[in-house]
Amino acid sequence: MTKDKILVIGASGQIGVELTLALRKLYGNSNVVASDLREENELLKGSGPYVSLDVMNKEMLHVQVIRQNITQIYLLAAILSATGEKNPGLAWHLNMQGLLNVLDIAREEKLKKVYWPSSIAVFGPTSPKINCPQQTIIEPITVYGISKYAGEFWCNYYHQRFGVDVRSIRYPGLISYKSAPGGGTTDYAIEIFHEALENKQYKCFLKEDTYLPMMYMPDAISATIGLMEAPADKLTVHTSYNISAISFSPKEIAAEIKKHIPDFKITYAPDYRQKIADSWPQSIDDSVAKKDWGWKPEYNLSLMTEDMLANLNNKGQ
Ligand code: NAD
Ligand code: SER
Repeated sequence: MTKDKILVIGASGQIGVELTLALRKLYGNSNVVASDLREENELLKGSGPYVSLDVMNKEMLHVQVIRQNITQIYLLAAILSATGEKNPGLAWHLNMQGLLNVLDIAREEKLKKVYWPSSIAVFGPTSPKINCPQQTIIEPITVYGISKYAGEFWCNYYHQRFGVDVRSIRYPGLISYKSAPGGGTTDYAIEIFHEALENKQYKCFLKEDTYLPMMYMPDAISATIGLMEAPADKLTVHTSYNISAISFSPKEIAAEIKKHIPDFKITYAPDYRQKIADSWPQSIDDSVAKKDWGWKPEYNLSLMTEDMLANLNNKGQ
């Protein structure tokens, strides 16, 4: 049996840093090659191999896959919802062509597995708001959501037609302290912690009662690895799995932070991101992921808040 060798594309991003470190623990440092368009993240330095790589350059990507004997790819390079609305053409191009390049190479080189995340952004105003099901009406209004929904069907197509074992999760908004977020609508839920610690106040770009599905990064990492390690014959969804952990509003997370920083104050100045947030569900039904591969989150709002504040304090925020 060939030894697994993993390529993480977009490894210097919010998820990439933590996922690369988790995969290195599991597979051994030298068996997980980190790659990104931008420079290597400080937290990755010295922990394993790094290559500078543009996922849009298919030839260069193909050469790396062959040269490094890659057997699995985790593709994290993308433009997220808020940034995508500023440059829709670029978001579509990167989010689609990057995925197609990886799927083609996976097919040609008969890679063992591919991981590619989708998002709650596939859902739109006509999807159910509460406990949004795995299969439902899906009419996204952002270019990011459109690219993720199209991407899900490309994954399904490559699986059905060419037998590529590509797996995917619709992440909710992810909250973390190790690396900065990349331009999403849910980024307020990270900024709020930094501002609470630095300035004891935060001006939120969403309205106080905007409920969104969220998740703490350790749960997102365990979901990703859980899905990728699951036996292929247990998986019934080849587009992308709903997963869920927490649902809260800016008002609720502010109240939770106030338990630790009593003089923290939040004000509201909704901007263009409000419309994006209003188009997404408030909570997600993840019963299929639970049934198929045993998905289970650990963090609720209070555990996450405590952990975020403790870790940001330790970092000297
Ligand atoms: P991020 O923006 O923090 O990281 C993306 C990384 O990809 C960056 O380091 C960037 O430099 C790199 N990149 C961009 N263009 C590239 C290219 N052409 N070639 C190689 N690398 C390139 O994003 P993230 O939050 O870590 O998200 C990773 C994936 O997870 C994305 O597909 C995103 O849509 C998805 N996702 C994220 C969230 C979230 O809340 N963070 C939620 C749902 C889905
Ligand atoms: N957190 C992401 C965003 O807001 C959801 O995909 O874009």
